[in-house]
Amino acid sequence: MPIISGFSKLSKESKIDWICDHYLSSNKNAKQVLANYWNSDSKLQKLHDEFTENTISNYYLPFGVAPNFTINHETYAIPMAIEESSVIAAASKAAKFWNDKGGFKAEVLGTKKVGHVHLNYKGDAQKLKDFFNQIKSQLIIDAKPITKNMEKRGGGILDIELVDKTDQLDHYFQLHCTFNTKDAMGANFINSCLEQFGQTFEREAEKHDAFKENSPEVIMCILSNYVPECLVRAEVSCDINQLGKTKEEAEKFVRKFKQAIDIATIEPYRAVTHNKGIMNGIDAVVLATGNDFRAVEAGIHAYAAKDGQYKSLTKISLKDQKFRFWIEVPLAVGTIGGLTSLHPLVKIAMEMLGKPNAEELMKIIAVAGLAQNFAAVNSLVTTGIQKGHMKMHLMNILNQLKATEGERLKAVDYFKTHTATHSEVIAYIEKLRA
Ligand code: MEV
Repeated sequence: MPIISGFSKLSKESKIDWICDHYLSSNKNAKQVLANYWNSDSKLQKLHDEFTENTISNYYLPFGVAPNFTINHETYAIPMAIEESSVIAAASKAAKFWNDKGGFKAEVLGTKKVGHVHLNYKGDAQKLKDFFNQIKSQLIIDAKPITKNMEKRGGGILDIELVDKTDQLDHYFQLHCTFNTKDAMGANFINSCLEQFGQTFEREAEKHDAFKENSPEVIMCILSNYVPECLVRAEVSCDINQLGKTKEEAEKFVRKFKQAIDIATIEPYRAVTHNKGIMNGIDAVVLATGNDFRAVEAGIHAYAAKDGQYKSLTKISLKDQKFRFWIEVPLAVGTIGGLTSLHPLVKIAMEMLGKPNAEELMKIIAVAGLAQNFAAVNSLVTTGIQKGHMKMHLMNILNQLKATEGERLKAVDYFKTHTATHSEVIAYIEKLRA
């Protein structure tokens, strides 16, 4: 295929023509499919076009709701953007289950965000330390035009430290910078501060006599998505006997449930899938509220491996007849700025949640993750996951088979009492059609 230059400068129509001519020529419907997903409201479409470069259509995900969540004695209907059929059903089921057992409790343990100016310096470490101590206040003063609005909101720069990392990488030092970004996710704020620190650092270093031979060099300035001190904890608890119809059933459930968490704590193969289930809940709320799910994913998985081995993010304790199940996750999310003030559905999501601040949103997201994990492990140690999953997936299979309304009704009824595997559904529809 040809290489094109100036693609981004073409009109949307020309981009589509070019893509269809060169990459979709065998699909006569391609243009129509792309157009089917445009919004008929041209202002709304323009908004979406401008979120990113080279937009040729919109990519929809279902925007659903998991109601009946009690968090710190308040009830919430949690918006979730996700395509996986069983996730919202599972979240709703867990929400309802915990409602009459005190609901979910959540607390924010920290809100510190982090960024670095990464440095290369071949000289005497003490000279760099002395220099840093001399210019530290200047770094903060020069960033004032960037920080003053954030400071009015109660946030800003928390600290800047020089860290010597030469034991791990030759000549590598860093400015480890910490921030409070209040209700903003804060990526742009942090990166702007860091780039200003980098400029001040180099400017002052050029004038510094001790660096005649060896001047420190700024390699790069960038926030870290690893935020172990921007942390939230969510928990559920109840008497063990509340977890089954009989004492025996409850004890068996709790024993198997605990074993499942223990397995996910020591076995990374299981931990990854276990945490994937947690991310089903977390990502769906992060997406619905217009936050950066890649940043959240990267930070959470790094946190899961913080002790040197990838482990379960949820923990359990069984003491004095009490079942306690909790999660601790780092979550750098915002409720102002970015998509939150632009995307109409994100605004609806925020309104649905009672216009939370960032700390409240952290709690809601952590609860969604915990609920999802409770629902998944609950199914895994009792009925198995496929029963509920395939029930929800049935519609997708029926759609693939282009089932009529009549066939769907019959199939839904039939698979209430039969396990809906892919092949079973095909066989059932074929039988109906014969
Ligand atoms: C599927 O999306 C998620 C699960 O695999 C999570 C788990 O195994 O705990 C069901």
